[in-house]
Amino acid sequence: MILSISLWLLVAVLILWILLDPVSRISRAIFEVLIPLVNQKPIDLKNKFGEWAVVTGSTDGIGKAYAKELANRGFNLVLISRNAERLEKTKSEMLTISPNIQIKLISADFSKGRDVSVEIEPHLRDIPVGILVNNVGKQYTYPMYVGEVPEDELWDIINVNIGAATLMTRIVIPGMQKRQKGAIVNVSSGSELQPLPLMTVYAATKVYLRSFSEALRVEYNKFGITVQHLTPLFVNTKMNAFSHRLQVSTVAVPDATTYAKNAVATLGKIDSSTGYWAHGIQAFFTLIPPVWIRTKIGEMMNQTFRKDYLKQKNL
Ligand SMILES: NC(=O)c1ccc[n+]([C@@H]2O[C@H](COP(=O)([O-])OP(=O)(O)OC[C@H]3O[C@@H](n4cnc5c(N)ncnc54)[C@H](OP(=O)(O)O)[C@@H]3O)[C@@H](O)[C@H]2O)c1
Repeated sequence: MILSISLWLLVAVLILWILLDPVSRISRAIFEVLIPLVNQKPIDLKNKFGEWAVVTGSTDGIGKAYAKELANRGFNLVLISRNAERLEKTKSEMLTISPNIQIKLISADFSKGRDVSVEIEPHLRDIPVGILVNNVGKQYTYPMYVGEVPEDELWDIINVNIGAATLMTRIVIPGMQKRQKGAIVNVSSGSELQPLPLMTVYAATKVYLRSFSEALRVEYNKFGITVQHLTPLFVNTKMNAFSHRLQVSTVAVPDATTYAKNAVATLGKIDSSTGYWAHGIQAFFTLIPPVWIRTKIGEMMNQTFRKDYLKQKNL
């Protein structure tokens, strides 16, 4: 009798243990889709975090749209990108939306690695940064095998996707800690949900961002600092120019403005999110199969995008 009960208990524990991981992943995805519906009250981000926001990679795509959303909410902005002319143009657009905010421009190329943070630090020394959006990112020109990716492109991806977020955080976090408030938003990518063949290095850099965000949150939560980890799936921006399929805005592949509006609304409410309800639903289904199946599906998807690109270029 005791033996049979123990055996059944053992089987039950085993089943629970096997189910624990998928169940926790799936419940996280459901929570993420439901929270914006249940909790629609907007948060006063300026009051919660501070009046200045820094956005990296802010002259195009998600970064520009995110900065616009913050301008709408009256944040003073520090915009960082490579191209001075595009920065000035972006500044004018922001001032049209919100004429009374202050905007500071920093022209810097994060692919240069450590030297860039040395350049940027003095510009931010006297600014009480409330929100840092580590948005800048670099993707392959098109899906490639690792051996095909030019060495410079690989270093650029590592410097831009990993180096920039790490060092920008290192610059602003002591000030936030002193003021006992602030938010770091790390823009990762759905590519971190499983290994992603043909975008191998890009996806691996985004896994770094997830680990970085989760550990940073534990380190700095007690100082009143929010660390949000965003994992957008496909957004219609120039980053995905390798395939015509991703250059059409739909519910599943939103434009950057739609994405940013939704993502900003999650800040202060949820620490880890795709940032957009339809991406939450996609992530939910993505996370159901075991990782090896998802990796295989990812490879098949990227083979299609690779063919799209090669056809576009007549190669
Ligand atoms: N689009 C998607 O489907 C998608 C999906 C998941 C995650 N994400 C992530 O979202 C973030 C934004 O992507 P996006 O699609 O909006 O990109 P995007 O449209 O290509 O815009 C990139 C922005 O970063 C700036 N930038 C690029 N390289 C830079 C460098 N070396 N130094 C400084 N600034 C640089 C660009 O401006 P300048 O050229 O003027 O410097 C531009 O403002 C990235 O981290 C990306 O990985 C995107």
